[in-house]
Amino acid sequence: MEEGPPPPENLARDHTGVPPKRLRKFVYENGREYGNDSYYMPCDQAENDRLAIHHRIYTHALKGKLTTTPVTSDTRRILDLGTGPGHWAVAMARQYPHTEIVGIDMAVWDIETTEESVGCTGVNWEIDDLDVWGVEDDFDDLKRRLERYDMAHDYANREPLSASKAAKLKGHTSASDSSQPHTPSDSAYESYALEPEAQPGWHFSEPFDLIYMRGMKGVFAYWEGVYDEIYKNLNPGGWLEVVDFDMSLPNIEQGVDNFPFPTLAKLYLGVMQAAFKSGRPVGTFYMHPTYLDDAGFTNIKQTYVNVPIGQWPEDEEQRTIGKMHLVCIMEMLESMLLRYLTQWGDASKDHWTMEEVQSMIEVGKGEIMDWASGTDRFGNIREGWCASYKWIIGRKPLDARDRREM
Ligand SMILES: C[S@@+](CC[C@H](N)C(=O)[O-])C[C@H]1O[C@@H](n2cnc3c(N)ncnc32)[C@H](O)[C@@H]1O
Repeated sequence: MEEGPPPPENLARDHTGVPPKRLRKFVYENGREYGNDSYYMPCDQAENDRLAIHHRIYTHALKGKLTTTPVTSDTRRILDLGTGPGHWAVAMARQYPHTEIVGIDMAVWDIETTEESVGCTGVNWEIDDLDVWGVEDDFDDLKRRLERYDMAHDYANREPLSASKAAKLKGHTSASDSSQPHTPSDSAYESYALEPEAQPGWHFSEPFDLIYMRGMKGVFAYWEGVYDEIYKNLNPGGWLEVVDFDMSLPNIEQGVDNFPFPTLAKLYLGVMQAAFKSGRPVGTFYMHPTYLDDAGFTNIKQTYVNVPIGQWPEDEEQRTIGKMHLVCIMEMLESMLLRYLTQWGDASKDHWTMEEVQSMIEVGKGEIMDWASGTDRFGNIREGWCASYKWIIGRKPLDARDRREM
């Protein structure tokens, strides 16, 4: 990890009274700029440009719509968690000018350019670290879960992880299990520990009618806590929407050895292994309905859309999107892999060099180009390649207690 030169002064404007970007701490690593020393994706101009393209893809997938939740005249306050450069937030502000929109992120992004692109400044930007829980600290449990991870069976890690850390979220540890009575003669008895521990949580001044998060895989380790906080910070009748995607991997169900692209397979597995080693597993498991159900949400509904990757579709509009999608995925390789593999490594070694990651990415890109353009290494012509985009929504019941009573 290096501290690099200060970024150019015009990279970002600050809207919240925190020091301007040039005075804030950023982490410069392997030629990229990161918002902190743990989240795996960068927050520099290249990533900003990639997220701008990705926003168009998400919107295209919904045929121009920005949300699958009902936005009505009663929808007053909207929160975009992990807003990044704020493309969704500014688009919502333009489409629903009667709403008050808050975009929150731990990194300072080039918000000014996003606002200029739609001619709209109706979003309140806040800078804050939402991860009040930290990493998964039971590394043995993580190791067991990684061993159970089966790329051929669940390549995108979609199955929910066990709710192993409910105790942490409730603020106890097994050593001070309050379900067991203690007496002053117990070594575990601690008269000064009788006050309840402070609960980790978010503190917004007012609740919201819609809380949205997109592209947040790998951000948190304690998703149960995230959904509880979202629930608490919604008005009764308010909606949650979570959006993300994963790529289909051709023939993967027949085993990694039959996957036509060995380098991509190694990189894909490397991402999973590095994420587990980092203490924040990655995958779309966090969008499983059980998380919403457990937190108390009702009216849970999922929407899936397949979006083409590459120029294979015959339909001209789909082909344009497929081309954009391909560019976005090529760029995403470095954004996702560089920190994961240099900082945590895969199962084979703890740290890759930047050069090793970059040269694997080049080979991986070649494989993607082969795939996207027609044949695999076995000479098979394949069906079109897609990524699966998913929206999951849930509603806080109208008769739920509001936050002040919880
Ligand atoms: C893949 S980007 C998605 C950005 C945006 N939602 C979009 O769809 O364009 C993930 C975002 O999560 C933010 N993030 C990561 N860790 C965070 C944390 N602990 N607190 C707040 N934001 C965080 C990153 O800075 C980044 O902007």
